[in-house]
Amino acid sequence: MTVIRTKRFTLRPIEKADAPRFAVLCNNREIARHTARIPHPYTRQDAELFVDQLMAARIKGDEHAFAVCRDSEIIACAGALQTGEHIWEIGYWVGADYRGDGVASEIADAIAQFAISEMAAASVTAGYFIDNPVSGRVLEKIGFHNTGETVMITSLGREQPVSSYRLELDVADFSGSRDVVIET
Ligand SMILES: CC(C)(COP(=O)(O)OP(=O)(O)OC[C@H]1O[C@@H](n2cnc3c(N)ncnc32)[C@H](O)[C@@H]1OP(=O)(O)O)[C@@H](O)C(=O)NCCC(=O)NCCS
Repeated sequence: MTVIRTKRFTLRPIEKADAPRFAVLCNNREIARHTARIPHPYTRQDAELFVDQLMAARIKGDEHAFAVCRDSEIIACAGALQTGEHIWEIGYWVGADYRGDGVASEIADAIAQFAISEMAAASVTAGYFIDNPVSGRVLEKIGFHNTGETVMITSLGREQPVSSYRLELDVADFSGSRDVVIET
């Protein structure tokens, strides 16, 4: 099982036992508003379904989601989803109490490295809703550029489609943080 170590965090595969913690962290309006698949309010049952789906996807091999742990406490989540041949999309959210401290920047960089080195991604993509400039900044810092394309994506948290910018990483120019270690 793949474990990714960054300067401050350990990213490990999500397990069934993580559901109660995800139920707490994901029950947050900002996460629901700015992601596609997280409803609000968010129940323990939602979290159990989420964990089951991600564990099944990992076995299938088309999505790898990681619990981001500081010491042994989960504070965030990040992952990569296969959307085409050698094309992987990254995503992330950070628990409300842990924002504004570079967490997303550190883990998004690590997931991009994972997609390229472990999933053989030739293209790494991402997206963010047009009213979420914080996520845009995170992606820009890592080396993603805006493709100029926008798509409508339904956010369960808003119960309506939202316009989303599409971005792509300049893979050839990307090296990522040297602090990242990927153990398989
Ligand atoms: C978006 C989110 C992941 C950011 O996490 P975070 O750990 O606080 O992000 P970081 O601290 O790594 O970086 C935030 C950057 O945005 C900048 N920023 C903050 N407010 C901003 C704003 N209104 N406009 C532009 N940039 C902004 C910060 O200054 C920082 O950039 P810097 O390092 O150059 O100073 C977090 O707020 C979150 O989980 N939100 C809900 C879910 C979500 O949006 N997920 C992403 C879906 S695409």
